[in-house]
Amino acid sequence: MTVTGAAAAAYIVAALLFILSLAGLSRHESAKAGNTYGIAGMALALAATIALAADGGIDPAGAGLVAVAVVAGAGIGLWRARRVAMTGMPELIAILHSFVGLAAVLVGWNGYLSVEAAEGGPLLTGAEAGIHSAEVAIGVFIGAVTFTGSVVAFLKLSARVKSAPLVLPGKNALNLGALVAFAALTVVFVVEPNLPVLAVLTALALALGWHLVASIGGGDMPVVVSMLNSYSGWAAAASGFLLGNDLLIVTGALVGSSGAYLSYIMCRAMNRSFLSVIAGGFGIEAASSGDTDYGEHREIGADEAAELLADATSVVITPGYGMAVAQAQYPVAELARHLVERGIEVRFGIHPVAGRLPGHMNVLLAEAKVPYDIVLEMDEINDDFPKTSVVLVIGANDTVNPSAVDDPSSPIAGMPVLRVWEAEHVIVFKRSMAAGYAGVQNPLFFRENSRMLFGDARERVEDILKAL
Ligand code: TAP
Repeated sequence: MTVTGAAAAAYIVAALLFILSLAGLSRHESAKAGNTYGIAGMALALAATIALAADGGIDPAGAGLVAVAVVAGAGIGLWRARRVAMTGMPELIAILHSFVGLAAVLVGWNGYLSVEAAEGGPLLTGAEAGIHSAEVAIGVFIGAVTFTGSVVAFLKLSARVKSAPLVLPGKNALNLGALVAFAALTVVFVVEPNLPVLAVLTALALALGWHLVASIGGGDMPVVVSMLNSYSGWAAAASGFLLGNDLLIVTGALVGSSGAYLSYIMCRAMNRSFLSVIAGGFGIEAASSGDTDYGEHREIGADEAAELLADATSVVITPGYGMAVAQAQYPVAELARHLVERGIEVRFGIHPVAGRLPGHMNVLLAEAKVPYDIVLEMDEINDDFPKTSVVLVIGANDTVNPSAVDDPSSPIAGMPVLRVWEAEHVIVFKRSMAAGYAGVQNPLFFRENSRMLFGDARERVEDILKAL
C-alpha cells in the first residue's frame, strides 16, 4: 500500500475514533473512555499527517521546524493542563479556541501567499482559482471572528474585563453592516485577489468578533463559550478545504455541529433565543441600572445554622461557583452524609449553568462521592421548595436570583432559576454582599426568610459540622 493510501485509511479510522469520543463524552460514566478515543484519534491523525509530509519530500529544514513546533506546543499544552484549577477551565477553553481561530487565519493567509500571490504568477486559473480565493476569504473571516471573540471571552471569564454587555449605539446595524461588507469584499477578492482587500477583510472580521462577544452580557457567557467552540470547528473545517485535508474537514464539522447543538440546548435551558445570542445579543436592550434599595439583610452564625439544620425534616443544597472557589465540596458532602444519618432528607438542586462549565457542580459533587440519586436537576427539584425546611445556598448567586422571575427589566429576566425563596428558611453562604457573575443585585438576600452566613464557604460548612 502506498503512504497516501495508508494515510487515507488512517484518517477514516481517526474520524471514527472522534465520533466515538463525542459519543463517550455525552455521559459521565463513559467520559473517560471518550477522552481515550479522542487521544488515540488525534495521535493517529498526527502520525498520518507527518508520514504524508515525509512522503511528499519535505525538506530537512521544514521537518525540523515542524518537530520544534510539535514539541513546544505539546510541552506548553501539558504544562497548562496540569496546572489549571477547575475554576480556571472555562478561560483555558476560551483561549484554546482563540488558537484555532488564529491558525485558520494563518492558513488562509498562507494559502493566498503561496497560490494567488505565488512568485512567478498565480498557480491556479479559471474556476479553480475562484474557488481557492473564496476558501481563503471565508477561512480568514471565520478564523478572525473566532480569534478575537475567544480573546474577549477569555478576558471576561477571567474577570480581566467587566462581564457587562457593551451596548454601542446601533450595534445590530454594525453587525449586519459588517456581514454585508464581508460578502462584498469576498466577491471583490474572488474577481481580483489582492493584498489590500484581504487585509481589510481580516481587520473587519477581527473587529466583528470582538464586538459580537463584547455585546453579550455575563449571564449569557455559557452560551458564548459553546458558540465559540462551534465557530472554532467551522474555522478548522475551512482550513481543511484550503489544505485539501479531509480529516480536518470532518473533525471541524464534528466540532462545529456539536458546539452549535450544545449552544442550542443551553439557550433552551436559559430561556434565551439562540439566534439573538449568536447575533451578539441581537434585540437585547440595555438593562436597568439595578441600584434598587431592598432594605437590610440579616445574618446568621454557624451555631444557629446548625440548630436550624438539626430541627429540619428536609434540606436542599444548591451549590454555585463559590463552592468551586472554596473547594467546599468535601465538607458539603460530609454535611449531607451527617444529616442523612440523623434521618433528615437531603438533596442537591443543580442549575444548568451553575459554576462556570456545563456540569461543573456535578463533577465536583461526584469528586466528593455524593451519591448520584440525591443530585437533582433544577426542573426535578423546583416544585419541592415549598415543602423544604432549610435551603443551603452554597456560593450560588445568579442561579437563585428571584429578579429573573419578578423583574422584567433585569438583565437576567426570563432565565429559569432555582426558586429557593419558597422554602421555610434559606441560608446563603458567601463572603460579602457582592453581586454574582452577571453583576446583578440579588433580592433573595433581603427576603424575610433569608439569612446570610458570611465567610469562606468551606470554613463555614466545617464550622457547622463541628457545631452539629
Ligand atoms: P455566581 O453568580 O457566579 O456567584 C457566585 C458567588 O459565590 C458570588 O456571589 C461570590 O460571592 C460567592 N463566592 C465566591 N467565592 C466564595 C467562597 N470562597 N466562599 C463563599 N462564597 C464564595 O454563581 P452561580 O449561581 O453558580 O451562577 C453562575 C453564573 O456564571 C451565571 O451567571 C452563569 O450564566 C455564569 N456562567 C456559567 C457558565 C456555565 S456553563 N456554568 C459559564 C460561564 C458563565 P462573594 O464574592 O461575596 O463571596
